[in-house]
Amino acid sequence: MTIAMCPGSFDPPTSGHIDLIDRARAMFDKVIVAVIDNPSKRPMFTPTERAELFREIYGDTIDVTIFQGLLVEHARDMEVDVLVKGIRNGIDFEYEFQMAHMNRRLSGVETLFLPTSPSVSYISSSLVKEVARLGGPVSSLVPDVVENALKERLP
Ligand code: PNS
Repeated sequence: MTIAMCPGSFDPPTSGHIDLIDRARAMFDKVIVAVIDNPSKRPMFTPTERAELFREIYGDTIDVTIFQGLLVEHARDMEVDVLVKGIRNGIDFEYEFQMAHMNRRLSGVETLFLPTSPSVSYISSSLVKEVARLGGPVSSLVPDVVENALKERLP
């Protein structure tokens, strides 16, 4: 069985994340979505809330974990074979390329890059939050449950 992990901040999950996770699910026996718990980033949603959003989207059909510290240690604990990352553009590539090499050096784990589907490649969690904060429509950018969570969170 080949186990893949899609790690990220997911604050909040977007349609771009769903694109990546769905495509990874079609390729691997098991996909674990790993939500980072990094309080220094001052997220809009707690790690538990972000994990719960994924559970609302996927039900019991997906494994969701929350981790702190080094990703590769969490991946090792979960017996992960490959990390899967979405690449939207050259900026993502520069950053992810470096992390992929570091993660491989640290633990031997491989990283697979998937080019984000063009229809969602402009979406980022930070832009979604900005649009939502300013009262703009986010329905085409995030799953329905996330849209509702944003509405509840923002005045
Ligand atoms: O959604 P993001 O913010 O792009 O996700 C980045 C994430 C969480 C995958 C990355 O920051 C990460 O792996 N953090 C864990 C800390 C770590 O392992 N750092 C060394 C990376 S080489």
